Amino acid sequence: MSGLDIIKRYKNYTKNFLGKIFLSILFSLLVAGSTSSIAYLLDPAIEKIFIEKNKTLMLLIPLAIVIAFSTKGFSLYIARSILISVGAEIRKIIQKQLFKSIVSSDLETMDKKHSGKYTAHLTTDVSMIETLVTDTILLMTKDTLTLIGLLSVMFYQNWKLALFALIMIPLASVAAKSLGKRMGKISTQTMETYGNVTTFLLEIFKNHKIIKIFQRENHENQRADNYFEEFKNRTVKIAKVMIRTAPIMETLTGLMIGGLIYFAGSLVMDDQLSINNFFSFLAAMMLAYQPVRSLATLNIGIQQGISAARRILPIIDSELKDKNYRNNIKITNGSIVFENISFKYSNKDLDILKNINLKIEGGKFTALVGHSGAGKTTIMNLIPRFYEPSKGEIKIDDQLIKNFSFDSIRKNISLVSQDTSLFDDTIKNNIKYSDLDASDEEIIQASKLSYCDEFISKMPDGYETIIGENGVRLSGGEKQRLSIARAMLKKSKIILLDEATSSLDSETESKIQKAINTLTEGKTTLVIAHRLSTVINSNRIYVIDDGKVIANGNHYELLKNSELYKNFYEKQITKN
Ligand SMILES: Nc1ncnc2c1ncn2[C@@H]1O[C@H](COP(=O)(O)OP(=O)(O)OP(=O)(O)O)[C@@H](O)[C@H]1O
Ligand SMILES: [Mg+2]
Repeated sequence: MSGLDIIKRYKNYTKNFLGKIFLSILFSLLVAGSTSSIAYLLDPAIEKIFIEKNKTLMLLIPLAIVIAFSTKGFSLYIARSILISVGAEIRKIIQKQLFKSIVSSDLETMDKKHSGKYTAHLTTDVSMIETLVTDTILLMTKDTLTLIGLLSVMFYQNWKLALFALIMIPLASVAAKSLGKRMGKISTQTMETYGNVTTFLLEIFKNHKIIKIFQRENHENQRADNYFEEFKNRTVKIAKVMIRTAPIMETLTGLMIGGLIYFAGSLVMDDQLSINNFFSFLAAMMLAYQPVRSLATLNIGIQQGISAARRILPIIDSELKDKNYRNNIKITNGSIVFENISFKYSNKDLDILKNINLKIEGGKFTALVGHSGAGKTTIMNLIPRFYEPSKGEIKIDDQLIKNFSFDSIRKNISLVSQDTSLFDDTIKNNIKYSDLDASDEEIIQASKLSYCDEFISKMPDGYETIIGENGVRLSGGEKQRLSIARAMLKKSKIILLDEATSSLDSETESKIQKAINTLTEGKTTLVIAHRLSTVINSNRIYVIDDGKVIANGNHYELLKNSELYKNFYEKQITKN
């Protein structure tokens, strides 16, 4: 992303706030004016009060100084507070866009980066952009204007002295510029470290139990130590570069003031400069120190903001564009056909699926069986277009799904995934996730049909019970039944069911079987089967081995015709 692109985006984000930004510039102008008048007022103060001993001005000038200082203070406050709200507003816009893009990105993209990295983008990176917005506008306008005002006072008081002081300014900015470039680079590295730390922490929370049982607390402490050490080193580095401007700037200032006193002294001796002009000049120059310094370090903040923008904007831009969003598929019968489908994950070289042909009849129950890693879940993922096949066609009711919008396809599909995915919310909200408009009666009905009602009613808060992160407060069987209830509520024509491999007691097993039977009645069902009762119920079974279909038929046909199925059936299915 080039600098020009970033400027364009910057304009885009700020364009709705131009009025407020303009207002803050107006107040910056007041800051500049009042600061310069403070410096200027020392001239008449010395001349009229101390030299000429004018009694009226002895009251008026101090009063004017009080007014100038308070104007400066109030204007600065107003300019800042306007920009704080603009910055926060822009930050929210970027967060929303980034979130939208992350939440709608395809699975392939999400597989590539750990959620910790995305978390870091959404928090720290966005803050850096906010700082870019507020600080650049405020500092650039306020400090530039103040500097112009103060320079005018300096030139007004004595142009020779002013020229002398001016020579020093470019020196300071050269030093600051090289610092800014370094900052951009270090800041990128720091953010990477930050992302790694977040990633690490999320994994620790998720795998808490595993850490305990394998007694890896020390191992994790060690790893944490490394992460925190790296984090420490980076933050120290960045902070040290940041403060590196101080010695340069202070030395320059010293040189300037020392040189100035010498130069001013020679002017006074030649009668080219009087004492009141000199003090006013000196005040202006001292007051100029702060804006020069902040302008010199401004580049640092800008570079940090730009490197954050470089990380975030491409993600926002990559928001998945559904080319076919206008074309809606019409699903009547719900029959699904795979024609010569091949597929590979983008991070792997080999085809995971090789020339798959399937006929999943509408309204019927079709099963996939096969060894772990054979590619069953992968086949299922192609139907809602989670991934796109590299070769071949998938049709639903004779329509090529690649020509239709994700929305219209997914609207017709319900999914119960292999690893039940639940939210840390109430039972009720978890069930109605598939249909936010569902009434309480519908929710209760779905829970009864999926045998959830019996365990829900035993809970102290019933349907309002919070189930914890991914449902930790529920048993495995309860989680499965809850996800079946959720799928039931959607009432979609097509049901994809990736049976959990965990074995359950025979009573729960039969309840889940009954729930599945109710769920799939009259629906097109594709189930990845691990249970005997499921395969026996199936109208057709496809045996998948190493990404290929090696046999199909019903249970009894396959027992007769397919050696592999027979073997598989005896070894895998019956053991559950
Ligand atoms: N997101 C992914 N990225 C890369 N490779 C993947 C991804 N998901 C699965 N694979 C690989 O694809 C192959 C097929 O996986 P798949 O999940 O389809 O197997 P499966 O038949 O469902 O197995 P199981 O019965 O254990 O669930 C495996 O070798 C797996 O390592
Ligand atoms: Mg699987």
